[in-house]
Amino acid sequence: MTMQLTADERAMADGRDGPAVAQAMDLLLRYGRALDAERLVETRNVVASVSATTPFMREFARREGGMDAVYSQFSLDSDTVVPIPPVRTRAMHTQLGFAPDSAAQMGVDAATVQFFRRGEAFTSALGIEPANTCTPYQVGNEPAFGEHCAWMESSAVVYCNSVFGARTNTEGRESVGAAMLTARIPYWGFHIAENRRGTHRVVLDVALDSNADWGLFGYWLGDLVQERVPVVEGVRARPDLERLKHFGAAASSSGGVEMYHLVGITPEAPSVEVAFGGRAPRESLVYGDAERRATLEKINATASETKVDYVMLGCPHYTLAQLREAARLLAGRRVHADCALWIFTPRAIKAAADAEGTTQAIEAAGGQVMTDSCSAMSRAAPKGTRVVALDSAKQAHYLPAILGVQAWFGSTADCIEAACSGRWQAGL
Ligand code: F3S
Repeated sequence: MTMQLTADERAMADGRDGPAVAQAMDLLLRYGRALDAERLVETRNVVASVSATTPFMREFARREGGMDAVYSQFSLDSDTVVPIPPVRTRAMHTQLGFAPDSAAQMGVDAATVQFFRRGEAFTSALGIEPANTCTPYQVGNEPAFGEHCAWMESSAVVYCNSVFGARTNTEGRESVGAAMLTARIPYWGFHIAENRRGTHRVVLDVALDSNADWGLFGYWLGDLVQERVPVVEGVRARPDLERLKHFGAAASSSGGVEMYHLVGITPEAPSVEVAFGGRAPRESLVYGDAERRATLEKINATASETKVDYVMLGCPHYTLAQLREAARLLAGRRVHADCALWIFTPRAIKAAADAEGTTQAIEAAGGQVMTDSCSAMSRAAPKGTRVVALDSAKQAHYLPAILGVQAWFGSTADCIEAACSGRWQAGL
């Protein structure tokens, strides 16, 4: 299909704004044509990763001339190095492969940290905010209803579409790199109203009283509906940011859910009829006690040993309220000598936790508050880790495969108990 371009888009494609922008337009047009998109849409909100995140990319940068070369090759698909101009949109950087302030614990050498700092200076000079988090919505990026966005990171994408009613597909490194330079992204998928309507009806037949309950429900749901759009009825208590965060992250890891509706709660589902847009659901599903129990068993299937070496919290990155809860649960206790506790949060939230003393309270008990990454992203865990405890269904889904560990899933209180006793005791 030939894509319709505005005069401004045509001029960008023809080189008016320099070679990097022309290359970005070329990439977006190839991408759009492959998707049968009829046109591009303007976006002013991009969440992206454009850093040299792997050893291969770092070596490429050293060999080929620095971060311009990395951006040209890996974000614009350009065989020649083009100078990268400042971005045209609001742009925020996603999580990275390690936390620079905790590099030593994560086994990252000084040369890599130095390279990271130069890379961050490059992206900041382009205008990309160094938020370095999978939860941009926690640190000031709250798109308006209906706003067209170009976001990476599946847990952020499902939050953007479902909770804000903003519009994004799950973008990749190449498309966001091009979107930042052109303020455009192909108009397809979840940018189009019709594709946002529900496909599956889901009836909740159990109360969801905690983040872990919402995580389990999301894990069950994603597995069943995969990349379709579920419409959930029967939510008894309105979920807050933390519950929605754990729910979406789980649904987008066991399946590919990029959008859901909670009837009477999320903005595009004032009623069942509106959520389905007048169409009949393809399938109806029920989530009750039996489904909850089976999901918990499934998620804990890798774990058998009760001696816990490592507790990781903060997937998706913790809110300040969650850090405070961890500090409260640790009060008067100490992390067991044979166990480690790492908690991940955005930099901006850690700054607030530092200022109010929450970080210090966690550290005084033997835990650590880290930023920018997580164990799944960094592939890092304390040395010798064989068994982990997690309060995130998403992390429990990925860590056994990534690190070859056993993973227990439970509530935050279960996990703090495991950190302090060094043992897993079934809680949920
Ligand atoms: Fe974030 Fe890592 Fe989880 S990047 S969503 S904490 S897997």
